Amino acid sequence: MRHPSRVPGLADWDVVPPPFGIYVHVPFCAARCGYCDFNTYTASELDGSGASPDGWLDAVRRELDIAAAVVGERAVDTVFVGGGTPSLLGAARLGEVLGAVRSTFGLAPGAEVTTESNPESTSPEFFTGLVEAGFTRVSLGMQSAAPHVLRVLDRRHTPGRAVEAAREARAAGLGHVNLDLIYATPGETEDDLAASLDAVLDAGVDHVSAYALIVENGTALARRVARGELPAPDDDVAAARYELIDDRLSAAGLGWYEVSNWAADDAARCRHNLGYWLDGDWWGLGPGAHSHLAGARWWNVKHPARYATAVAAGSAEAGREELTAAERHTERVMLRLRLRSGLPLDLLDDAGCAAAARATADGLLDVDGGVAVLTRRGRLLADGVAHALLAAAPV
Ligand SMILES: C[S@@+](CC[C@H](N)C(=O)[O-])C[C@H]1O[C@@H](n2cnc3c(N)ncnc32)[C@H](O)[C@@H]1O
Ligand code: SF4
Repeated sequence: MRHPSRVPGLADWDVVPPPFGIYVHVPFCAARCGYCDFNTYTASELDGSGASPDGWLDAVRRELDIAAAVVGERAVDTVFVGGGTPSLLGAARLGEVLGAVRSTFGLAPGAEVTTESNPESTSPEFFTGLVEAGFTRVSLGMQSAAPHVLRVLDRRHTPGRAVEAAREARAAGLGHVNLDLIYATPGETEDDLAASLDAVLDAGVDHVSAYALIVENGTALARRVARGELPAPDDDVAAARYELIDDRLSAAGLGWYEVSNWAADDAARCRHNLGYWLDGDWWGLGPGAHSHLAGARWWNVKHPARYATAVAAGSAEAGREELTAAERHTERVMLRLRLRSGLPLDLLDDAGCAAAARATADGLLDVDGGVAVLTRRGRLLADGVAHALLAAAPV
């Protein structure tokens, strides 16, 4: 058996079977942030639909039984409870979710068990409860330390609360703590971002995710930008801010391992997300969750009430696809190129290797030992570099 407590590298994951993850989608939020288009609902949006946290938990348990019947006996290497706002459920219910995964599949020794949490719905007792239930990692949505940026993003927590929550999580015994940042929000200055980075580093976390703000269609933010109330985020500003983030985090010992993710060491990397990026298998439980098993993908009914009804009838599935070999190849190149572990050049044909040589000459790639790794300038243009390699090497 593979040793699950070791962080797998590329070579381990090219063997069969790959790691197995469980994602659990919590579709509840106290309020909707203006920029967010995730599958999540406020209490008033669910009013009258029959959906509730207890109904959701029942349905997730039923879907776990369906998953066990399909997958068979297979210990879980990683669990990730995401949302939405999992912390709204409280530690006891999150513990029940993990208990259900344990009793259905079982956890592999050294399994990574993460939950996302919003700073304002956490407390020292919440984190202690998570540790007692068996969670090993927490990911907190900080976004910014600047009050006016949090206001533009419609975030509810006060600027200091995310850092305080990160400290509480570490003190409670959570071995790995992540803070999420959003950068290049309209109105965010370089000094604002520098202050957010100071706060992140002060919190002593071992993982940071930083995403440039995306204006998603259909969101309140998109409407504000369309009305001219806010300027659209600027790509050049976002690129300069990315460099600031990378400079500050790497100087503090947090190295990039994926274009938007930095970790203190290999053990601090998010193994669950590495499963997504390196062709792992995972089952996504909950409304709208996506799954990937042995090359097949499917996704669940999105609305919590319809999800519960569908699960009770025997399947939550809303759609399914089998990727063609060409589509799988495209995805593999795009995802591996975003990783610090890099893209093995033997995934490319001669034309693709020639394109990699041109990208290297242009300062976008470093090639060493047959593996291509994005330079920092390359990271700013990751999708373009991947397209160049793929356009040169159609399969
Ligand atoms: C969907 S949230 C779920 C976790 C939790 N509710 C929260 O808000 O932190 C996960 C992360 O996605 C990022 N995110 C969501 N929408 C985004 C957007 N439009 N642009 C950039 N980042 C976004 C935020 O950093 C957020 O912390
Ligand atoms: S709290 Fe998180 S999931 Fe909920 S609306 Fe805000 S960003 Fe989206």
